[in-house]
Amino acid sequence: MYEAFFNNKFTNALVFYVFLFLLLLGSPFLFIWELVVAIQSCFQCGEDMSQKVVLITGASSGLGEHIAYEYAKRGASLAIIAIKEPDSRLEQVADRARQLGSPDVLFVFADVSNVEECRMFVDQTIKHFGRLDHLVCNAGIGPLYSFKTEVTRFEPVMGINFWGSVYPTHFAIPHLMKTKGKIVVNASAGGILNPPKANFYNASKAALISFYESLRFEVSPTITITILTLGFVNTNLITAKYSSTNGVGVPLSKDIGSVLPTMDVEPCTKAIVDGVCKGATSITEPRFYKALYLIKFLFPQLHSFYYNIVFPRMSKNE
Ligand SMILES: NC(=O)c1ccc[n+]([C@@H]2O[C@H](COP(=O)([O-])OP(=O)(O)OC[C@H]3O[C@@H](n4cnc5c(N)ncnc54)[C@H](OP(=O)(O)O)[C@@H]3O)[C@@H](O)[C@H]2O)c1
Repeated sequence: MYEAFFNNKFTNALVFYVFLFLLLLGSPFLFIWELVVAIQSCFQCGEDMSQKVVLITGASSGLGEHIAYEYAKRGASLAIIAIKEPDSRLEQVADRARQLGSPDVLFVFADVSNVEECRMFVDQTIKHFGRLDHLVCNAGIGPLYSFKTEVTRFEPVMGINFWGSVYPTHFAIPHLMKTKGKIVVNASAGGILNPPKANFYNASKAALISFYESLRFEVSPTITITILTLGFVNTNLITAKYSSTNGVGVPLSKDIGSVLPTMDVEPCTKAIVDGVCKGATSITEPRFYKALYLIKFLFPQLHSFYYNIVFPRMSKNE
């Protein structure tokens, strides 16, 4: 019935503009709806986290570390995971979380890209605490891509960012079903906005968004899934130092924070844990990134124009 519209170049485009027009027409109402939901959530009580157990991967620094502190302040017991590095801060994070109010903190060194190690740390958490309420899949790496680099060097990006979330989720689901628990997955604005030089990072995060959006339908309403699509947050990951030491591709000439607007890690992680405890199914911080997502889909030319201007200034000559 509708084929005639889509087979004709003119009417095909017309349908798009009619949809766009209707969206613009409806947007004041959608905007008010969004505002009402935001105001309502300010007055909503969050989940009581005392007596609850939270497992967080990649908790030795940055977002994972501060998510652990936010849960600790709410009285949750924690299992925190990071890969074993000679100078790992995981034990210090555990001490600080106890000082902030966590009754019990288990720290385990494991590589999230290894399926057996993921099974091991989920089992250890259950053995130690007897339950699991929230799983936070946060561990990730972000090397910048260059086609001049040997392509297989980027395989760990998929291994850690994608499989490193999927494996713990797979082993945690039976336990989360029992507690009507929550899964938080740290995807990224990169998975939607696709900034240059971050090809594999973006692909791993887009895969996460897709995977967890589908999984939601299988496990809800028993398990709530919160997908985080964060913009730039001030952690190691967005520094020039990280890009030249941990990255395998293009080193940055400047910290991203000195060129683009970024958010501090504490307000960001507070907003995340507040939102998760109130049952949010997606969280974007800083919030203005939501507008960028709209621009990307509605006005792709504007989106590429912006990237062409901003990004050449940031990478060193390859
Ligand atoms: N910062 C941002 O602007 C931003 C924006 C959007 C999304 N994110 C996402 O947020 C997450 C946390 O990043 P961050 O910014 O907090 O960076 P970060 O400070 O570098 O934290 C990364 C964490 O992941 C851990 N990790 C890395 N590889 C691992 C592995 N194989 N097994 C277990 N743990 C591993 C690291 O442990 P070690 O220190 O022991 O290696 C560290 O605790 C990542 O998934 C990132 O993609 C960050």
